[in-house]
Amino acid sequence: MEKEMEKEGKSKGGWIFFWVGVAASLVLGWLIFPGLIHSKKVQPVHYSHLKHGEGGAGLQCEECHAFRDDGSFAGIPPLAKCLECHESPQGSSKEEADFIKVAEKLKQENKNIPWLIYSEQPDNVYFSHAAHIKMAKMKCEECHKLVGGKTDKNPVYNYKWISGYAPEVMMMETCEACHEKKGKSNACFVCHK
Ligand code: HEC
Ligand code: HEC
Ligand code: HEC
Ligand code: HEC
Ligand code: HEC
Repeated sequence: MEKEMEKEGKSKGGWIFFWVGVAASLVLGWLIFPGLIHSKKVQPVHYSHLKHGEGGAGLQCEECHAFRDDGSFAGIPPLAKCLECHESPQGSSKEEADFIKVAEKLKQENKNIPWLIYSEQPDNVYFSHAAHIKMAKMKCEECHKLVGGKTDKNPVYNYKWISGYAPEVMMMETCEACHEKKGKSNACFVCHK
């Protein structure tokens, strides 16, 4: 009798361990493991393309993402561009008030906003916006899926841990597939300097 009770107690204990194990592997697999293979970063300012485009402040893309006189692409605009409007508040949102505080501090230190670039390529890749936009007449959305004033991107995003690539980086096969289709050279030195 005593022996039997002991047995039952033991097997119940076994089930508890089983379920604890299942729970632990779910937590590890779904919550912890993805965190280990990605590194999260947050944009320094929650900039909204929607609030600055057609339905908002009414700015055109080229007012911020222009080509310089020498033909090179200016990329993300400097802080001075933002301050053309935000020297004084444009609205009453908390996001803007927070931004103005950050902007004042950076301006005093003579620094720019340290933006993260979603499609940033590794250093050994050479890419030219002028070749694709001015010569090949491509639209921004062909390569930047999530931007274009239609959506706001999540300001928190994941760098791929093993490669260190940003989340929207274009893979070599994609570049090469289009170059091949358009009859452009795919010699290594075209893209790798
Ligand atoms: C007021 C200035 C401003 C205007 C106008 C503007 N942008 Fe931007 N853009 C930014 C800033 C600041 C960033 C960096 C923060 C971010 O990624 O949201 C950015 C980032 C981007 C990026 C992301 C590049 C990357 O890989 O990280 C793309 C693509 C882009 N803009 C396209 C556009 C297009 C298309 C338009 C017109 C519909 C436009 N932008 C209008 C300021 C502007
Ligand atoms: C053929 C693909 C392609 C097209 C078309 C394209 N981009 Fe890009 N863009 C890229 C790549 C690739 C990068 C990353 C470059 C790097 O890291 O050297 C990038 C980077 C950027 C950046 C980050 C900052 C910087 O200085 O590079 C901005 C802003 C940007 N693009 C805006 C635009 C806008 C606005 C348009 C449309 C006028 C556009 N792009 C069209 C591929 C493209
Ligand atoms: C032509 C004027 C103009 C320029 C240039 C401009 N903004 Fe704005 N910005 C506005 C207006 C208008 C609003 C909307 C204010 C409101 O209604 O709350 C706004 C809103 C904002 C907000 C608050 C967004 C939110 O979610 O409520 C932030 C942050 C911001 N801007 C940052 C920037 C940054 C960073 C730049 C430079 C890359 C910039 N702005 C350039 C006019 C401008
Ligand atoms: C959808 C098509 C397409 C995609 C995607 C594309 N390219 Fe191109 N690329 C072109 C075309 C077309 C040209 C030729 C432009 C011209 O000179 O007329 C070109 C030209 C170039 C050049 C030559 C510029 C010069 O100075 O001669 C480089 C470098 C380049 N691309 C790099 C890249 C890289 C890197 C990627 C991927 C990140 C990429 N391209 C993705 C179509 C594309
Ligand atoms: C049309 C542009 C283009 C051409 C041509 C090209 N590459 Fe690349 N390459 C890229 C881009 C963009 C990346 C970064 C993204 C990636 O890893 O796919 C890259 C990455 C690489 C990497 C690093 C890959 C990794 O996983 O770390 C190697 C190695 C490489 N290229 C070798 C070559 C060699 C060798 C050639 C010639 C046979 C070549 N590439 C031609 C665009 C190009």
